[in-house]
Amino acid sequence: MNSFEKAVSELDKVGYLKLKPEVSDYAEAIQKLKKEKNAVILGHYYQEAAIQEISDFLGDSLYLANMAATTDADIIVFAGVHFMAETAKILNPEKKVLLPDLNAGCSLADSCQPNDFKKFLEEHPDHYVISYINCSAEIKALSDIICTSSNALKIIQSVPEDRPIIFAPDRNLGAYLQKVTGREMLLWDGVCKVHEAFSIEKILNLVKLHPDARIIAHPESEPHLLKMASFVGSTTALLKHVQTDSHHKYIVATEAGILHEMRKNAPQKKIIAAPIDQNNTCACSECEYMKMNTMEKLYLCMKYELPEIILPEDLMQKALAPIQRMLAIK
Ligand code: 13P
Ligand code: SF4
Repeated sequence: MNSFEKAVSELDKVGYLKLKPEVSDYAEAIQKLKKEKNAVILGHYYQEAAIQEISDFLGDSLYLANMAATTDADIIVFAGVHFMAETAKILNPEKKVLLPDLNAGCSLADSCQPNDFKKFLEEHPDHYVISYINCSAEIKALSDIICTSSNALKIIQSVPEDRPIIFAPDRNLGAYLQKVTGREMLLWDGVCKVHEAFSIEKILNLVKLHPDARIIAHPESEPHLLKMASFVGSTTALLKHVQTDSHHKYIVATEAGILHEMRKNAPQKKIIAAPIDQNNTCACSECEYMKMNTMEKLYLCMKYELPEIILPEDLMQKALAPIQRMLAIK
């Protein structure tokens, strides 16, 4: 039984769903549990607005990893996806780390499986391995250093010029970084389906309607979209850009959850979500994994302290060093 199956069976044992209490105000109940249990909620910008609002620390994956590394709370509740909660657990092996829905995975992390990656690395033994934080603990354990979209540039610059680099798992971010740094890297062929979903045709139609809008994009997006963007940056960089740039209207190509914080930070600006290539009612790109977490699941997970992230000791030890190397680079 792997750790995921174990946690699911633990949930079954306590009758997780049957024990659902009547709660009229989840926000109030969650605040109460936070105090009672000395718990901290780390929330990602892609979470639904109510979860962002109740998070003690709201941020991108780098900020949240830093918060996980320094918190003195007894319980870390990760309102994000599995690889983020895993990183928090690796940094805090003695603490309880909870994720409201264990199925909150990541298409990008799934696109890099440990056995395939191991074989790939064996074919290139002289390469320095940089893995984007959006990967499993097993991939982190096989890497020399971890990066996020916020610090990738610095991490690449920290590698001696004559050392060849493998960059995994996001090929779009990797290609973008090659362009910016001028450094050749061997790229793993993985993608995030949320950032690959944007429709150039629909974006162009939107530009016709809003000729005064500027396109800004997350570097996980496809190269042709990045070419159209006036600014490319990580979640935090996009937020800062909208806040500090003098322009007034933006089409934002990243997960739509970020629009909540963007509009709060820059209420005077017009912010439009970039549309996706699908005929559905919500035309923006949402991460189905991030949106698996709900206020109800957050409450239940804090009440029953389940599902918990459980990882083998030796895996945590191997994955810790590359994460620490990243956090040491300021
Ligand atoms: P950040 O590193 O900007 O938080 O992005 C995380 C992510 O999942 C992007 O798709
Ligand atoms: Fe993974 Fe993409 Fe969702 Fe980020 S937005 S968690 S990379 S699937």
